[in-house]
Amino acid sequence: MDKNVNNNEEVLILAIESSCDETAAAVVKNGREVLSNVISSQIDLHKLYGGVVPEIASRKHIENITGVVDEAVKEADVTMEDIDAICVTYGPGLVGALLVGVAHAKALSYALNKPLVGVNHIEGHISANYIENKELEPPYLAMVVSGGHTHMVMVNDYGEYEIIGRTRDDAAGEAFDKVARAVGLGYPGGPKIDKLAKEGNKHAIDFPRANIEGAPYDFSFSGVKSAVLNYLNVAKMKEEEVFVPDVVASFQNAVVDAIVSKTVAAAKEYKVDKVALAGGVAANSALREGMEQACKENGITLYRPSLGLCTDNAAMIGAAGYYEYIKGTRHGLDLNAIANLKIGER
Ligand code: KG4
Ligand code: ZN
Repeated sequence: MDKNVNNNEEVLILAIESSCDETAAAVVKNGREVLSNVISSQIDLHKLYGGVVPEIASRKHIENITGVVDEAVKEADVTMEDIDAICVTYGPGLVGALLVGVAHAKALSYALNKPLVGVNHIEGHISANYIENKELEPPYLAMVVSGGHTHMVMVNDYGEYEIIGRTRDDAAGEAFDKVARAVGLGYPGGPKIDKLAKEGNKHAIDFPRANIEGAPYDFSFSGVKSAVLNYLNVAKMKEEEVFVPDVVASFQNAVVDAIVSKTVAAAKEYKVDKVALAGGVAANSALREGMEQACKENGITLYRPSLGLCTDNAAMIGAAGYYEYIKGTRHGLDLNAIANLKIGER
């Protein structure tokens, strides 16, 4: 029996996330209070190959998912019976990886006779901001910068998203990972560049900030990535020494600059005074600082999840899933994984 969710009753969501290389489960109360947040990371395994290997990711999810879900329920100190709905990421992501979470969620929904709600992974990243900022409510502007996605999104209401900008080529995190690989830092490159950049001069090399005619809020990160690769090749040919911290600091500065300036310009045009950062690259210290300063100068309140809620986790899926659940979104046992699921698609 569904609880009457309009009656300020407690709603407990069991959330499952398996879209990439983290198997994760969480129990979230009323969309904002995290009772447990369990993550089993496969990063050490994929590191050996320099990136995520989809087949290995799926197999590892299958091995881990039962234990991770059980642990999340146990840690939350609840029982499966207490759960009101099962929420699961069904896209975007690696289809084989997504299917493991979706199949597990469907099995639980069927066996326990609980409602099933499919959640968009990117909407989850945005909703991570609700967890630590109880006062945050739409409308606001969200800047999603993850390994697979770069989207500027107006969140007009809970579950109502309007994309106003996106990358034309590489995602921000993808550019970090590719540049990291080029300078021999390994996978995942973002955190390693973040750390090494602190030892370099961000003004040492003037890498391009791509602007796209007629699309002021769109991004292109492959240009800056190519400029870095080119810089390294030219130096190699001339047998010149390269100071890697300067290269990565200058690259990071170009990326941060593009994200910060476009976000502030969009906030002004759309007349919002709240901006939320989201996605793995939102963990980047230069982006967090740069955005904070620019927002302060422009009278904008900035929201950023703490580092552990920027990268993939299931608590954010529980936050997004809660608002879908109370709106009445339900999925059947025919729910499928959709690798290229769009924001706002139901
Ligand atoms: O959101 P996420 O965990 O997964 C996707 O949904 O894609 O993002 C992972 C991405 C990776 O590309 C990783 O290099 C990047 O986020 N990342 C960072 C930092 N921490 C993670 N990039 C820059 N600086 C960081 N501190
Ligand atoms: Zn993600």
